[in-house]
Amino acid sequence: MAVTGTDTRTPDSFGTVGVLGAGVIGLGVAADLALHGFRVNLVDHDPAQCASAPARLAEAARIAPMLRPGFPASADRAEAAVQIGTDPAALAECTLIVENVTERLDVKEDVYRLLDTLVTPTAVVAVNTSSIPVARLAAHLSRPERVIGVHFMNPPYLTSAVEVMRPEATTDATLARVGELATLLRKKTIVVGDFPGFVSNRVSHLFFNEAARVIEEHGVAPETVDRIFRDCFGHRMGPLQTADLIGLDTVLHTLDHLRDATGAPRFDSCALLRDMVHRGQLGRKTQQGFYTYQHPAREVPS
Ligand SMILES: NC(=O)c1ccc[n+]([C@@H]2O[C@H](COP(=O)([O-])OP(=O)(O)OC[C@H]3O[C@@H](n4cnc5c(N)ncnc54)[C@H](O)[C@@H]3O)[C@@H](O)[C@H]2O)c1
Repeated sequence: MAVTGTDTRTPDSFGTVGVLGAGVIGLGVAADLALHGFRVNLVDHDPAQCASAPARLAEAARIAPMLRPGFPASADRAEAAVQIGTDPAALAECTLIVENVTERLDVKEDVYRLLDTLVTPTAVVAVNTSSIPVARLAAHLSRPERVIGVHFMNPPYLTSAVEVMRPEATTDATLARVGELATLLRKKTIVVGDFPGFVSNRVSHLFFNEAARVIEEHGVAPETVDRIFRDCFGHRMGPLQTADLIGLDTVLHTLDHLRDATGAPRFDSCALLRDMVHRGQLGRKTQQGFYTYQHPAREVPS
């Protein structure tokens, strides 16, 4: 099922959109919104993430139009449209908030308790999670009917669809609002149920984990694993390149959550993945994962 927004909305009619979490995906969501003409308040509790955000935003705004032509806002205007800070009070004026904090249930639950004290009664909260059921987080808000899952793929400004997770309590109006947002971002919506990992990550994380296990158990080079998927199956990126792009810590948190939520041993993470995260080799964001990268800020696969 897909939902298409009406064309009566404009970015201005959304007022200011809040983006909570300025990590890999939150920064990309903020860049995508700004390049499509939205005003954005980007909030992260980590001052270091806020300090590096302008450079990461500038890089995204420079690259995105080359790879996906047709953004309505120039790179300069997009950069100017994003206000960055550590104070969550900046979310109080927002009509829609995209939450992108660390993929840990305890962290996200604290954030939803805080959001309940901040957001206006009419604001929509879009949960950008890799595996946590949306209803579990919505339960911490007094208006769970205004909460919905919107799973952006990385990097958001280059993708043409989002996976939408609709819990039972979510109203048609909330769904329509997200449809309008997606239309303005030139994205389709694909609506799925609200179960751990949804469709995308329930499948893809087994694939990432198994690709790492092939290296661990049989010594196959990462390049070889990825080439099989690019050259034989025609995938744009191999599983290990994709895992590096997402962030290996996020991949590991997602596998852990899938294992805890389903009880299925197939989601047990392999030792290589756990060791790499333990050593701080998190993929592109630390310049070292299955591959070595020269540009920490560059979110786009090269
Ligand atoms: N990386 C991806 O490709 C991807 C894609 C879709 C969804 N997601 C989901 O989006 C979320 C973020 O993922 P990410 O890859 O950007 O992670 P990340 O680790 O790169 O960034 C998480 C950010 O959240 C911030 N944060 C943590 N607690 C906070 C709090 N209480 N208040 C404000 N900021 C806080 C951190 O400082 C950090 O900057 C996760 O739920 C993840 O599963 C990630």
